[in-house]
Amino acid sequence: MRYINKIQLVVLFSLVLLNACGGVPEEKTETAGTENAFSVEKVLEMVAKENDVTRTLYTKAIVGKGKAQGMKFDEDWRKDDVEAGPLPALFLRGIATSIRKSPVPLGLYLGSDFPVNAANKFEGKQADLFEQIKKDQKPQFFYEEEQKLYTAMFADLASAGACVTCHNEHPQTAKSDWKLGDVMGATTWQYPKDSLSYKETVAVLNSYAKGTVDIYLEYLDEIEAFKESEKPEIGDKWPAEGNYLPTPEVFLDSVKKLSSYETMKHLVAVK
Ligand code: HEC
Repeated sequence: MRYINKIQLVVLFSLVLLNACGGVPEEKTETAGTENAFSVEKVLEMVAKENDVTRTLYTKAIVGKGKAQGMKFDEDWRKDDVEAGPLPALFLRGIATSIRKSPVPLGLYLGSDFPVNAANKFEGKQADLFEQIKKDQKPQFFYEEEQKLYTAMFADLASAGACVTCHNEHPQTAKSDWKLGDVMGATTWQYPKDSLSYKETVAVLNSYAKGTVDIYLEYLDEIEAFKESEKPEIGDKWPAEGNYLPTPEVFLDSVKKLSSYETMKHLVAVK
């Protein structure tokens, strides 16, 4: 009853009456898949898990191994005179931008208390909760009154040596003693409803996956336009094997394989 407002109650009551009179028998099938199946916390947990896998895969298998092959990654990767791919944080921002352009009302943001980019510094409630996340690495959930958004924050860990060295050595860094395993920041996720139907849940997961493909395609477009640098061969091989990059499909397929078990567990556990 918590999720039903007055108007919906009236509509519901009318439907019950109609049904009792033998009307709209198809109503049942129409609402199947639209009744709220998941709490917003559960859904944000699922998509954050997908994000963890995507982010680690991109950082280790593309950026880490790619660098060993001589591939370049740069914060100014979009500039015409820079022939490089997006840094992990900018890959994530690309995903967030794609989601923002989609019809799915999901917000994604990567912040920290000691950011490289001052614009990524947590403020207010999020800064307070981030202190707690640094202590126990547990997700934090709250309702953001001003924007009326359900908000979840998940620890972003220094999961690869590259996270630590790059941040410590960055000229704009606010902290230069990061260590492997540190909570370097948090992803903040927002959604305007406290529960989602099965369809809305799948839409959230799909818009995240589409975001991954969109930014990855932008990266491949950038490579296509390289004038000076050697272009990696794009197919089913990874940088670990040589001057190769996987296609977006191959990349996404690996994300799915690595994360689907966890996500699937949630999706099938409802009934
Ligand atoms: C090659 C350099 C490089 C690597 C590798 C790298 N980062 Fe960053 N990271 C940056 C830069 C530059 C920014 C700022 C991007 C921007 O303009 O928003 C950033 C942004 C961030 C932010 C947002 C707060 C801030 O510092 O601005 C977090 C959190 C973060 N990175 C964590 C990580 C983690 C965790 C990893 C490894 C999984 C990682 N980074 C790998 C360079 C790097």
